[in-house]
Amino acid sequence: MLVSGREILQAARNGGYAVGAFNLNNMEILQAIVEAAEEERSPVIIQASQGALKYAGIEYIAGLARIAAEKATVPVALNLDHGTSFSQVVQCIRHGFTAVMIDGSKLPFEENIAIVQKVVEVAHPNNVSVEAELGKIGGVEDDIVVSDREATFTDPDEAAEFAERTKCDALAIAIGTAHGLYKGEPKLDFERLREIREKTDVPLVLHGASGVPDHAIAIARQYVSKINIDTELRVAFSKAIVDHLKEHPNEIDPRRVLGPAKAAMKEVARAKMRLFGSAGKA
Ligand code: G3H
Ligand code: ZN
Repeated sequence: MLVSGREILQAARNGGYAVGAFNLNNMEILQAIVEAAEEERSPVIIQASQGALKYAGIEYIAGLARIAAEKATVPVALNLDHGTSFSQVVQCIRHGFTAVMIDGSKLPFEENIAIVQKVVEVAHPNNVSVEAELGKIGGVEDDIVVSDREATFTDPDEAAEFAERTKCDALAIAIGTAHGLYKGEPKLDFERLREIREKTDVPLVLHGASGVPDHAIAIARQYVSKINIDTELRVAFSKAIVDHLKEHPNEIDPRRVLGPAKAAMKEVARAKMRLFGSAGKA
């Protein structure tokens, strides 16, 4: 069933677990994520990045997601990932998204607050939850590039003030993760995470969680309510396609190529749901 992002985030915050937010780009990826949630009896957030909206178009993304969510027997929210403007948020709400992220992390503090307040004003009456970002998460996701030099960690006092003034439903924080593949093992600033958690009640979001080792996720999930995974799903999907075509170089049926890719991706999503603690919570 399609539900508001707030419902999923609040249940996770109260239940002391994190829900996975996985990026969709096409039907097979969407099915892999939602089937994983069904099989793990887990709530799930499916989300569309800027790249996904460009690739598939908002009508296809919203239409596919609505069908998948309506068929599902577990709670599913559809989220705009790293929304870039107020008008994009409005467009997503019109298309039935139940959650939006407005990424004002590159803006000065007061301007970030102002854009989030504006989004909250339009989203909340439509029962759409709002995620904001404070601090800058490094790495590359589609068109969004943040160099190591530009990346800045979230200040706990600012986070508390930000959540209070914006009334956002979720806050993405920067504590050492980055989008895309890591070169070495990422070192997360758990001290900072604990401090942010102590200073505000708002559900926290960990972006760039692909490649973060399980032991670090096991700690993080005690403090955050939403964990974003994209790269690891892409890797599983693409690797399965390459492997299949290596074994069957004359394959001409796309279903026989994409079927194993979907299955491989589903296994990664299922493992994440167990790791995050959301399995069995739906
Ligand atoms: O917003 C999406 C995520 O933060 C995904 O990051 O590709 O590093 O898993 P990732
Ligand atoms: Zn992200």
